[in-house]
Amino acid sequence: MCGIVAYAGHKPCHRILIEGIKRLEYRGYDSAGLAVIQDGKLALQRAAGRIASLEEILDETTAHGTVGIAHTRWATHGAPTTSNAHPHLDDSGRIALVHNGIIENYAALKTWLQSQGKHFSSQTDSEVLVNLISFLYRGNLVDAVQKALKEVEGTYGIAVISSDHPETIVAARKGSPLLVGVGENEHIVASDAAAIVEHTTRAVYLEDGEMVVITPDAFRTITLDNITVDKELENIEFSLQQIELDGYDHFMLKEIFEQPTSLENTLRGRIDLQAGRAILGGLENVKDQLAQAKRIIIIACGTAWHSGLVGEFLLEHLARIPTEVEYASEFRYRNPIIEPGTVVIAISQSGETADTLAALREAKEHGALALGIVNVVGSTIAREADAGVYLHCGPEIGVASTKAFTSQLAVLTLLAIYLGRRRSLDHDQAQRLLQSLTEMPARIKNVLCLSDQIQKVAQSCLDREHWLFLGRGYNYPLALEGALKLKEISYAHAEGLPAAEMKHGPIALINKGMPTVFIATSGSQYEKVISNIEEVRARGGMVLAVATENDTRIQTHAEAVFTIPDVPEPLSPLLVVIPLQLLAYHCAVGRGCAVDKPRNLAKSVTVE
Ligand code: M6R
Repeated sequence: MCGIVAYAGHKPCHRILIEGIKRLEYRGYDSAGLAVIQDGKLALQRAAGRIASLEEILDETTAHGTVGIAHTRWATHGAPTTSNAHPHLDDSGRIALVHNGIIENYAALKTWLQSQGKHFSSQTDSEVLVNLISFLYRGNLVDAVQKALKEVEGTYGIAVISSDHPETIVAARKGSPLLVGVGENEHIVASDAAAIVEHTTRAVYLEDGEMVVITPDAFRTITLDNITVDKELENIEFSLQQIELDGYDHFMLKEIFEQPTSLENTLRGRIDLQAGRAILGGLENVKDQLAQAKRIIIIACGTAWHSGLVGEFLLEHLARIPTEVEYASEFRYRNPIIEPGTVVIAISQSGETADTLAALREAKEHGALALGIVNVVGSTIAREADAGVYLHCGPEIGVASTKAFTSQLAVLTLLAIYLGRRRSLDHDQAQRLLQSLTEMPARIKNVLCLSDQIQKVAQSCLDREHWLFLGRGYNYPLALEGALKLKEISYAHAEGLPAAEMKHGPIALINKGMPTVFIATSGSQYEKVISNIEEVRARGGMVLAVATENDTRIQTHAEAVFTIPDVPEPLSPLLVVIPLQLLAYHCAVGRGCAVDKPRNLAKSVTVE
């Protein structure tokens, strides 16, 4: 996710652009830039880092222009460096573009444009688009943008300017939001209303496939085929904070509800259904070494460690490679045994967690092939790993990790299929799983409908200080994750356990009304979980269950049941976690806790 602002008016616009992208910084903050048309030329200023770094280098170069575009980036293709920051110029320096989204066929387009003599100075997919526009430009900017967009596959919200048309901005959307603020002798295009409301509360929202051409005094909405679209002016009625939160009360809730989209972004371009294969371009350089892997060690902390535990099941089940999962903080200090054929995988949302980074370095020193599964592009772990796979789930702001977890599960599933297909996993098995994986975003959307039911159950448990979360097999790591979510944001004490371990001690904790969350989805261990539930009920515990749709038996064993669709067992963690996240969230809100910034916790733990 990135943030776009474009201004056409009669005021000097560089401060307007900067203030606008600051409002969008929650959408991405690893580099930023702006391009302004000044004295008939494009003046470009860009910087790696947050927008504050851009402000530090701003000088008179862009001070007087009244038409310009700006961008705050969250990297997808290419590290967050100054040369990869937006805006991107075409190789003639006459056209500038800002882009939010992913151009999936950028590699093929780039090769072709290079064969036509175009030059590139970044690793981004966006620079390919501006050069394609430039290649097709014959004096009519709108026409060139329309022609170029017909050639690209993927998603985009873009704004384009050219020194040949100093009063005009062309913007278009497909899959990435854009709206046009309509002011007095000024128009502003932005990724969301937060960047606009200071200037005007009248706006037009673009739909996918629509474009807008703005000048200081007019705007025109059209299709890619140049047909005029009549749009209604709407009133923006939200406060700035509400807009950043997109109407949600907290970033955590927003990110929970974003999961259908973030998962789609993680999967995009990585599934070849026909061949029954996963496509992981980031592993291409090490594919021969990976084919020889004898053992995998996953290192991570917190929620990422829990996704690693699911990864252990996936890799052993689908790829038949012995896999262990270690706390990064333990691994780094115990002089691990790394034999030839050992692959170490560091999982980290931030890519900056100190223990995980140190463990990765330790693994490399011992000669392991070191891979990273990371969200933040260009982060230290991403840079230091030999190869890896990005999550592409967008910035995660809430301290409690939610959408990164589901994206980690998706990448681990793809990895297990990728490796499995080179070993024992046959085409049909892989194809079935990949097909189900593509259906997961829609299934998550259905599970999110449980939110109101879960809120009511949470209300009845707000005074409970001790909770247990229990599951078996694939659901055991989910029990750990459910407990971690609850304790870190609601400050209730919660323990997650493999369900069968309960009778070896923790059962002594069960007393009347103690909430015990069982993950009792259909699958190989269902009957055994039902027996564990009865052990809790016999001692007066309050049983809440996550179960599979159409399971009529479970209703008689639990006070409340949260149902999820029936999916292949290796994929069920992607759905099971949703009610657990919602339960933690509603308990924390009910207990009056600071959901997005829980006490004593930081988003990224960069110290030991
Ligand atoms: O950025 P990382 O994924 O490396 O972070 C690891 C943990 O610090 C993180 O998952 C933490 O446990 C979260 N607060 C859990 O919600």
